[in-house]
Amino acid sequence: MTPARAADTLGMPEAEMRALGHQMVEMVIAHLVGRAEEKAIEVTDRASLEAVIGGPVPQEPSDAASALATLRAHVIPKQQHGDHPRYFARVPSPAAFTGILGDWLATGFNSIAASWVGGSGTAVTELVVIDWLRQCMRMPEGTQGIIVSGGSLANFTAFAAAFAAKGRGVVYTNDQTHASLKRNLTAAGLSMSDIRVLKTNARQEYDLDALAQAIRADKAAGLKPVMVICNAGTTNTGAVDPLHAIAAFARSENLWMHVDGAYGGPAALTAQGAQDLAGMELADSLVIDPHKWLFQPYDCGVVLVRHPGALERAFAMSPEYLKDVMGGEDSVDLFNRSLELTRKARALKLWLTFKTHGITQIAAGIQAGMDIAVRAQAMVETQPDVWELVTPAKLAILTFARRGAGPQDHERLVAQLTEEGWATLSSTNIMGRTVLRLCTLNPLTTDEDIRATLGRLAVMPVFGS
Ligand SMILES: Cc1ncc(COP(=O)(O)O)c(C=O)c1O
Repeated sequence: MTPARAADTLGMPEAEMRALGHQMVEMVIAHLVGRAEEKAIEVTDRASLEAVIGGPVPQEPSDAASALATLRAHVIPKQQHGDHPRYFARVPSPAAFTGILGDWLATGFNSIAASWVGGSGTAVTELVVIDWLRQCMRMPEGTQGIIVSGGSLANFTAFAAAFAAKGRGVVYTNDQTHASLKRNLTAAGLSMSDIRVLKTNARQEYDLDALAQAIRADKAAGLKPVMVICNAGTTNTGAVDPLHAIAAFARSENLWMHVDGAYGGPAALTAQGAQDLAGMELADSLVIDPHKWLFQPYDCGVVLVRHPGALERAFAMSPEYLKDVMGGEDSVDLFNRSLELTRKARALKLWLTFKTHGITQIAAGIQAGMDIAVRAQAMVETQPDVWELVTPAKLAILTFARRGAGPQDHERLVAQLTEEGWATLSSTNIMGRTVLRLCTLNPLTTDEDIRATLGRLAVMPVFGS
């Protein structure tokens, strides 16, 4: 008789696999249920953690349950917890359980979405999800896209499509454009002399006259303007560039219009957000990050490109060793739409979330985050002797300053709050001034969470100028 094949490649017995799997589910759900009691952020020093998890390369087998417990106890806590209701720093990531489940499913089955023959089920799922997102963002039929690891890679992918379509030349950004986009442009081979960084106006948006003037000056100098990059929700203040006006201008100047909605884009699912983001749908390429405001766990970024075939024109390859797995007419080999060949099936988690919750519940979750920021603004404004509002709630971000704070005080307040870990927020620079910034994407945040966070910041010492 042929001996039964082991269930695990490296020989873990089935009973142990089941026990560990159940333990993992319990561990994650216990975290989700009790997360408000945990810290929002915790930092470690290298030596003390290495003392627990480092040492020589393990040579002999050891107990998986205790190794897992070590990771849970010593590694997992030491991070920023983007799903914590008092995590207000940078951009939170309040992943929904359906997103987590879909990710586990893809991991458990080692699901790949690269070639058609090698993953037609996962490819169709991705094409379906991309088209749902296209409709949510109101882009025209025919728009295509791809899911990558996040906003950085999604923006890079869009730029490659833009350069393939328009050639290389001068690219326009502004001082609120996320730093990763400038990094993308130089990594794509542009020199800093090809990148204009225009000063924004008092609303942190493009100054249209300055943009037109910069383009005129470049043309007069014999240069070739190729792309204007717009923000649909800046990381600093949630500002949105005048997208309609820029779209008209880009068409008349034959420029590729790229919109970075990595953070703010999903707000278009709400009535208020759709108003704030009007014109986003006119983009030649648009980026949104489901691991920010579409309740997905890391990693998940999406690029949508208006022009059919534009991604393939930038990325297609057909080496002899992939011919067997490539599809024919009416199929899509997703590896031809970005730099990734082997790619995890990231669409499964998005599909499960869309299918389970529908736009109704997803949009309600996004609206909740926007409402929390409005209530946080009201709390700031009702204590004018303690706080000064710097920029109002926009796409769930507000910035404010502590009265009497000196140049370094806001960074100190953030450092102290982060050190305590009960809550955390960011400091940033708005028009030359360091301020405090709250980003309230998590629908689980309560008014008391905000009130208590402001309360802690209000009693910390400041040193003034
Ligand atoms: C507006 C914006 N664009 C791009 C990025 C980069 O995205 P990622 O961190 O997913 O690579 C971010 C990240 O916060 C962002 O806020």
